[in-house]
Amino acid sequence: MKRILMLLALAETFSGIQSWSVQKDSESNYTNVLNFHAIKDTVALRSVSNIENVHFINANIDTVTQSFSNQLEKCVWLNFTNGTVKAVLINSKLLMIDLNNTATEKIIIEQGQEYKLVTLLIRKSKLTRIPPNVNQLKQLKRIDIIESWIEYVSLNDFNGLDNLYEIDLSDNRIKQVQTSDFVSLLTLFRLGFHNNRLYQLDTCRWDMPSLAELRLNNNNLVHFSVGHFPSLKLLALASNPMNCAWMTSLVELLQRRAKYFWFGYKFTQDEWSCNGASLGDFDVHCPSTPEKIQKLDPDSRSRLEKIESAIHKLDSKLNDQYNMANDMIETMYRTAIARAFWGKRN
Ligand SMILES: *[C@@H]1O[C@H](CO)[C@@H](O)[C@H](O)[C@H]1NC(C)=O
Ligand SMILES: *[C@@H]1O[C@H](CO)[C@@H](O)[C@H](O)[C@H]1NC(C)=O
Ligand SMILES: *[C@@H]1O[C@H](CO)[C@@H](O)[C@H](O)[C@H]1NC(C)=O
Ligand SMILES: *[C@@H]1O[C@H](CO)[C@@H](O)[C@H](O)[C@H]1NC(C)=O
Repeated sequence: MKRILMLLALAETFSGIQSWSVQKDSESNYTNVLNFHAIKDTVALRSVSNIENVHFINANIDTVTQSFSNQLEKCVWLNFTNGTVKAVLINSKLLMIDLNNTATEKIIIEQGQEYKLVTLLIRKSKLTRIPPNVNQLKQLKRIDIIESWIEYVSLNDFNGLDNLYEIDLSDNRIKQVQTSDFVSLLTLFRLGFHNNRLYQLDTCRWDMPSLAELRLNNNNLVHFSVGHFPSLKLLALASNPMNCAWMTSLVELLQRRAKYFWFGYKFTQDEWSCNGASLGDFDVHCPSTPEKIQKLDPDSRSRLEKIESAIHKLDSKLNDQYNMANDMIETMYRTAIARAFWGKRN
């Protein structure tokens, strides 16, 4: 008899079937649900129905459905660690979702819901792209999809998220960031594409006046334009095969700005290096787009021209100041163009 019981216990262990249990987390205000199996353990959900912070550890769930989240009546903070959670339909009442090492393949966001989600954190998933309809999460402040399989990113998908503060897409397989249209993220502070396979970055249509931290280290970047980010304070670029002449002008630009108006800029060239074999003449500024400036209304065009000539007259003898003036004008043009563009669409 004893032997049979032991064998049964061993069989359970080897087949991976462990029964669920619920316990208070000792270090946080979460309640942990261990080894939940969606098909046979729905009764377990009842025991956490009035808990706000629920953490599923080692769960096995095909899809986190509307009815699943509805059974967690009070839950607003929802974590999953380990196990398998193939798909998650985001419930509009949730404030935070954290998926950590759950082999997740799909995040479902519906149109026309009033989502409350502020934080979406995904680590070690099998996601290959940004979830469709991400711009429906109007309250979203932070989205991290890291250590996953993302290959393709279109920043336009985030347009309209007026609270967005951080996008972290580090440690993926991203080769290219598509920007088919203007990307206007006025509150974005931190953007991370480090540890990817980026070889090209078209930033010229990014309107990100608050962007302070841009992490691009460990990619395949040769050059890109960075002159039009007025708030930039941290630029991580180590381990990229940068064009040497371009890198020199970038360093000059950053030093100049640090001196004049990037107060508090922590400019370190930690491990920056360039590739002597890279040929070409690349600008740190975006090409000016006269035809677009022409399209601005006459009022703002003449205002810009007046400011431009006034700044040039200030003191064009000092080269430094002249260059700084150019940087400022560049930024003003970019902003005006983006505003005009968005004004027309709205
Ligand atoms: C406990 O949970 C609430 C949300 O339900 C959260 O705002 C708060 O920061 C948490 N406190 C701790 C110590 O984790
Ligand atoms: C749940 O996720 C949040 C956000 O990542 C994290 O701060 C918190 O520690 C997690 N809770 C537990 C119990 O792991
Ligand atoms: C998740 O799995 C890893 C091993 O893969 C383990 O180190 C970690 O403790 C597990 N996390 C939890 C919360 O059980
Ligand atoms: C993910 O889980 C691992 C193992 O449990 C833990 O060490 C790590 O801090 C977690 N990360 C996040 C972002 O929750």
